Amino acid sequence: MATTTHTENHLFRLKSRPVGLVTPDNFDYVQSTIPKLGPNEVLIRTVYLSLDPTNRIWMSDIEQYMPPVKIGETMRGLGIGQVEQSNNSRFKVGDYVSGMLGWQEYVIATGNEPFPLVTLPKIAGVPLAALAGAAGMTGWTAYFGLLDVGAPKKGETLVVSAAAGAVGSIVGQIGKLNGLRVVGIAGGEHKCNWLIDELGFDAAVDYKQPSWQKQLQQATPNGIDIDFENVGGEIMEEVYKRMNLNGRIVLCGLIASYNEADDSKTKLGLAPALMKRLRIQGFIITDYALKIQDATDKLVHWIAEGKIKHRETVIAGLENAPIALNKLFDGGNTGKLLIKVSDP
Ligand SMILES: NC(=O)c1ccc[n+]([C@@H]2O[C@H](COP(=O)([O-])OP(=O)(O)OC[C@H]3O[C@@H](n4cnc5c(N)ncnc54)[C@H](OP(=O)(O)O)[C@@H]3O)[C@@H](O)[C@H]2O)c1
Repeated sequence: MATTTHTENHLFRLKSRPVGLVTPDNFDYVQSTIPKLGPNEVLIRTVYLSLDPTNRIWMSDIEQYMPPVKIGETMRGLGIGQVEQSNNSRFKVGDYVSGMLGWQEYVIATGNEPFPLVTLPKIAGVPLAALAGAAGMTGWTAYFGLLDVGAPKKGETLVVSAAAGAVGSIVGQIGKLNGLRVVGIAGGEHKCNWLIDELGFDAAVDYKQPSWQKQLQQATPNGIDIDFENVGGEIMEEVYKRMNLNGRIVLCGLIASYNEADDSKTKLGLAPALMKRLRIQGFIITDYALKIQDATDKLVHWIAEGKIKHRETVIAGLENAPIALNKLFDGGNTGKLLIKVSDP
């Protein structure tokens, strides 16, 4: 067993439940002492902390798919780290692992936590940051959401909202690999150009332009077969109007309402769903826990071959996590938003 020289940890504890956007006052940033490892335990140094819209959901005491983070608890968060010390034969010192590392510099784990610790492969052409995004949880979400929930058929039209974000940018590219017409909705000319010029989307709609509804009509002349919904609100309402018979709405997220007290921002009548026989299906990526290896293998392969491009917005320093999280809500990120906590 190698001995770490590190004895101190820094971490964020949730102090109060945010109202609206998160502020640093919602957390205590504290220093703690790293205890000695017990049997089967490993000490992991966080390298990348994944910032996800769901972090904001976890901070609220509302009905959700996991218990909310308790006041006083270390903030929950996914991440990638390196094993610094190990009493567990499954993890060697130097291995890179992913798991629920939390908003902290170091974590002690056994690998048998409810969200398991996974040893990451070393693959040429696939940087560690991509394993935290495009080939990690956000990539799996895109993969299963589109291919399983969306059930795409060649030639169909797919519309994806928050298209220049972590999940959306991968959804669109998987859509192209499956022969779909892909239309992305994103905020700003720069993001829309990226979708078309670099990621190969067929069209992009800039929802920050007053003419965006018209742009959506022009981009979807044959209607919409699959809505990969990441946003909700007015964007979803407009897409909903253009759904085709037997269309599928993949309800992945409703980011427009995560800082609100409820989701009343999205107003959809049910009559169109009846008349057009739509299937509206919510899903949470944890539903696919047992199949994640299949998705990782596919995504890693596509990334290494250059068939899927990935981008990360990386902010240095764990201490910046609360403020950086708000980039997800003001469009400040393109691709996957990561905090670089320490050097790989
Ligand atoms: N179901 C699941 O298991 C699962 C798993 C992962 C993620 N998700 C969901 O997937 C969605 C995307 O997550 P992500 O991690 O990939 O985040 P992301 O798309 O990288 O970041 C969020 C993006 O959403 C857009 N946005 C934020 N507020 C908006 C608003 N009010 N109206 C329109 N656009 C808005 C912004 O882009 P613009 O600049 O374009 O506005 C922002 O960059 C979220 O809803 C998330 O909750 C679900």
